[in-house]
Amino acid sequence: MRPVCLVTGSSSGIGAAIVDQFAAQGYDVVVHYNSGADRAEEIAATLREKHGGEALVLGANLSQPDAPFELVDRTFAHYGRLHVVVSNSGVANYVQDEKGQLARYRFSETPIEHLDKEMDRVLSLNLMGSYRLAQRALSKMTELAKKERKPAHRSILFITSISDIAPESTRIPYGVSKAGLNHAVLGAAFDGGPHNITVNALRPGVIDTPLTARPSGVEDPATGREFTVAETYGLMAEGGAQPIRRIGEPDDIAYAAYAFTQIPYMTGQLVAVDGGFTLPGNFANRELFLQEGLRKRQQQ
Ligand SMILES: NC(=O)c1ccc[n+]([C@@H]2O[C@H](COP(=O)([O-])OP(=O)(O)OC[C@H]3O[C@@H](n4cnc5c(N)ncnc54)[C@H](OP(=O)(O)O)[C@@H]3O)[C@@H](O)[C@H]2O)c1
Repeated sequence: MRPVCLVTGSSSGIGAAIVDQFAAQGYDVVVHYNSGADRAEEIAATLREKHGGEALVLGANLSQPDAPFELVDRTFAHYGRLHVVVSNSGVANYVQDEKGQLARYRFSETPIEHLDKEMDRVLSLNLMGSYRLAQRALSKMTELAKKERKPAHRSILFITSISDIAPESTRIPYGVSKAGLNHAVLGAAFDGGPHNITVNALRPGVIDTPLTARPSGVEDPATGREFTVAETYGLMAEGGAQPIRRIGEPDDIAYAAYAFTQIPYMTGQLVAVDGGFTLPGNFANRELFLQEGLRKRQQQ
């Protein structure tokens, strides 16, 4: 019988690539969405056609307290099996200002009414949503393992971020949510181990997705147009900010996500998949790398 994998936030970006990877490897999957029901249905139809397995579509706003528990329960109620859960849903901390524009403030300049809103936004989904989801997944997987004479290898993977250690003044709440989640991995690994359940975190660097298509606050000196986050970090990568001179694609993370869930002897690990961005020595020079990237572009 085919193994089963639930990937939260698989209606977009990294999650969509991960769910495709698992379906390609012979898993029956759950494509989960929050607002993108149509996108999720389309992704599931493509997976069925491409890979032949089952792709169940489930919606849930995982920042609501009961939703993560219900999502795991609905997955198990449908398939009666559960082997891998990838907790991937996540948002940036930016919230809209009174004009409806996405507001990006440096920490010291954040209006007081935005401080708690930004933190609530990321804690309710990135931290609490994942925390609750993993708790229910681990308890369900443990229950299943206890019924097996030789428990199958099962795995829970949190998609956190290198923002746990890579500092940026406008996204402190995001980093806090991801750093907090990393700690949950360490504790959960202790409970999972005796039942052959591994628990790890994959920490992506900057990946080209809708999340990084937002404005970065850096202008193109040639045109005055504001670069997106993906473009700014792409320039920095070209300028030498990381040994692999490009930002990541969703498939870069999908390959790693699949691999990390297949290693029965790796647990409690927080692994960066970031083209080397977080190697020591890089942070202080980011402005220099951006300028070098721009210079190289202008020479092309
Ligand atoms: N892109 C990067 O550079 C990068 C770097 C490091 C870490 N990450 C992490 O990777 C994960 C995926 O990010 P991405 O870049 O692929 O972003 P994305 O394309 O914006 O996708 C985010 C996903 O999260 C879902 N989501 C949003 N709000 C939700 C809610 N309230 N409840 C449940 N699901 C919700 C979205 O569902 P709908 O679209 O259906 O609403 C979507 O499927 C996130 O945890 C992010 O923090 C991304």
